[in-house]
Amino acid sequence: MSGLIKRERWGSKIGVILAVAGSAVGLGNFLRFPVQAAQNGGGAFLIPYFISLVLLGIPLMLTEWTLGRYGGMHGYGTAPSIFAVATRNHFLKYFGVIGVLGPTIIFIWYTYVESWLLGFAIHALFGRLMEAAQDGSTMKAFLEGYQGIVSNSWFGGIGQTYIIFLFTFAINFWVIFHGVKGGIEKFSKIAMPVLFILGLIMMIRVITLGAPNPAHPDWNVSNGFGYLWNPDFSRLKDVKVWMAAAGQVFFTLSTGIGMILTYASYLDREDDVALSSMTSVSINEFVEVILAGSIIIPAAFVFMGPAGLVEIAEGGGFNLGFVTMPQIFTKISAGWLFAFIWFFMLFIAGATSSVSMLQPAVAFVDDEFKLGRKKAVIIIAVFCFIACNGVIIGLSHGVLDELDFWSGTFSLVVLATIEAIIFSWVFGIDRAWKEIHHGADIQLPWSFRIVLKYVTPTFLLILLGVWTYQLAIPTFKMVGVQPENKIWVLGTRLGLVAVIITMIILVYWAWRGRPLPDIDIETDEENML
Ligand code: ALA
Repeated sequence: MSGLIKRERWGSKIGVILAVAGSAVGLGNFLRFPVQAAQNGGGAFLIPYFISLVLLGIPLMLTEWTLGRYGGMHGYGTAPSIFAVATRNHFLKYFGVIGVLGPTIIFIWYTYVESWLLGFAIHALFGRLMEAAQDGSTMKAFLEGYQGIVSNSWFGGIGQTYIIFLFTFAINFWVIFHGVKGGIEKFSKIAMPVLFILGLIMMIRVITLGAPNPAHPDWNVSNGFGYLWNPDFSRLKDVKVWMAAAGQVFFTLSTGIGMILTYASYLDREDDVALSSMTSVSINEFVEVILAGSIIIPAAFVFMGPAGLVEIAEGGGFNLGFVTMPQIFTKISAGWLFAFIWFFMLFIAGATSSVSMLQPAVAFVDDEFKLGRKKAVIIIAVFCFIACNGVIIGLSHGVLDELDFWSGTFSLVVLATIEAIIFSWVFGIDRAWKEIHHGADIQLPWSFRIVLKYVTPTFLLILLGVWTYQLAIPTFKMVGVQPENKIWVLGTRLGLVAVIITMIILVYWAWRGRPLPDIDIETDEENML
């Protein structure tokens, strides 16, 4: 085949699987999933969740692994060029802009939150967290002081928070600076086993809590699990439950973002994508449903009881993770140690995800402008540093929430829809099927072709329509935004529009006068058989 280009490669199969699983396993697993399940029908939530996993999550994982490897073989690791070479259509590359900008924008707010986890882990070790967590209101004050939203007896300013943010930011770029094999893969091979061990310790601690409150013997672990998993089938009639399940599947698997596409571009042409993508999905699901499902909700039930938990869960996973969990740790022996384990585990989960968010932008600069990885990392670091400071300054004005919605919720379903249509309809299901099975360690059931070709794109188009109507339009109209924050939200949007336009120009510039790789489709197909 013509056009095969030598690029950096992963060092081992287990390395790439752990890196992709690391990208998937993140705050979404430990904080978002249990709360979504508890709020949306408990055990019944698992029905739309697993249906979405099979009809959206797995097909999109396969699509991204396969398209990514295909792009990598032609020297491209990001959505714009992958879309262009896979479809042989110059226009479609502009849709790929979302696959580079989306993960970079997520990185900009996600890393700041990740740094709070490290800060809380340090404060757990030095005792201040346990002091603050004696009571709900002091814990909330501690969090707000740490975030720099208020100045109080816990924190007089944002100095300490900022130093820990700088450290977190530096770790992320240090990993990326060392490349795919020497940085991301090495980091994932250490971080993922540590994450599993810490997760198991937390799970075992929670399931051995028993019924610690003698006044409420029914506030026990098994009822805690019952609270999370007893199915309320009546909720299945509610379309919001189905949307919540689909949204969770996207976010948790990191699909529709662009990072798996980039990770897969560093595979070798002969590397398996079919079994590896399934393995990374399985690791993520084990961590999400088994480990994460056994920690935060049962623990909060045991100490707060069902009524307290409902009230807290309404505040979302963030509240449960940062405010409620520390209070729970004050009630168990060596609570400071478990608080440290909890926050450090979340920090690691966040870090393995955030490094994956940087790689698409770095790969874009490196692949398209041939500047070399190190220069690419420096350019992206400067951009992200400036933007992160915008998030830090505008935190209390809704800047983080605005970026989160467009980059972490809406753009996922947009990019996923584009990918599914490109893969099954434009690249073509026959080529897609052959490409999936090239070098594959397993043969997928034939019926999965139907899913890839019809079910996934249709499901995504419906989802995109409903999300646009129910979420994007009200968000665009700033429904619920405080009047004094509107100017900040508007400023954030103008910033987003400016970077989108810049990216479109960069894609145009990179491809100016560049022909599409000379791929003879017939030969291409023969090579794939
Ligand atoms: N998949 C990542 C998470 O769950 C983004 O946090």
